Amino acid sequence: MQRQPQKSKIGRSQPADAARENGFYGQDILSVDQFNRARLEYIFDVAHEMRVLVERFGSADLLQGKILANLFYEPSTRTSSSFMAAMLRLGGQVIPINNVQYSSVSKGESLPDTIRTLESYSDVIVIRHPEVGSAATAAYYAEKPVINAGDGVGEHPTQSLLDLFTVVEELGRVDGLKVAMVGDLKYGRTVHSLTKLLLDFDVELTFVSPEILRMPGEILEKMQRSGRSYVETESIQEVIESVDVLYVTRVQKERFTDLAEYDRVKDFYVVDEELMRRAKEEMIVMHPLPRVGEISYAVDDDPRAAYFRQMRNGMYIRMALLASVLGKA
Ligand code: NCD
Repeated sequence: MQRQPQKSKIGRSQPADAARENGFYGQDILSVDQFNRARLEYIFDVAHEMRVLVERFGSADLLQGKILANLFYEPSTRTSSSFMAAMLRLGGQVIPINNVQYSSVSKGESLPDTIRTLESYSDVIVIRHPEVGSAATAAYYAEKPVINAGDGVGEHPTQSLLDLFTVVEELGRVDGLKVAMVGDLKYGRTVHSLTKLLLDFDVELTFVSPEILRMPGEILEKMQRSGRSYVETESIQEVIESVDVLYVTRVQKERFTDLAEYDRVKDFYVVDEELMRRAKEEMIVMHPLPRVGEISYAVDDDPRAAYFRQMRNGMYIRMALLASVLGKA
């Protein structure tokens, strides 16, 4: 059911010229594979403008009259509420569906039928779903743009955009950086998307994980095919002194079939003050959040702790994406 998001979804309203040219108008956002440097630059520029807009005015009426259907089949705090906030700050409205147990999904309605229903009431659909490929399935059935907010262990493209945007905003560049991803690299969809997004950049990547949570083979193979080298290790001590970006992740308990296995690895890494004393002065610690013990609270006051700023950037990126796919950026 995978389908390239190239279908024409236009024809309902006249897009602004700039938005028509950006190539996002009417398109789905399903995977980071859709982004090259030029498209990233475009979205980051718009996101930066959104930050200025929010800081100066709080909100705008760019998406007045537009409706977002925010469909979450899996738990979410940040992704769901930042999409809602993004739409509201741009003057649009939201249909929030995050208790699918109270919707017709619990009566056995299929994903295509739910999508067909929601698109008859809205202009854009955001979906988070436990199955890999579900966002692509939704996009196949929808005429309106569909944005993937996480499809199981597959991808989380909007998170990776906000992650990379954070790196650019914090460190001013991407090329030449040493990036270490730490924790659950097997089930963590954010690191899957971020690794793919970084293929376009000249970064030194180190994957730090316990043996059973290593980065999936298909992503490592993709790196090899693109001529990118990487290092895999179990030891965070090996990388802490040299990294520019320490990207920490939660062990994804909900993806384990054997909870005893989860218990064995859940506390494998803890970024604490002692570890941070060995890190460079100019570096950042990132985390998609939620955290469940892998970064100690004492690190929050360290200026290098970028995860709350990263979270805030999510709203700006999602404002930029919504405005772009709706032809108003
Ligand atoms: C992440 C996710 O849902 O994949 N959270 C998020 O969107 N910020 C990471 C996680 O749940 O660990």
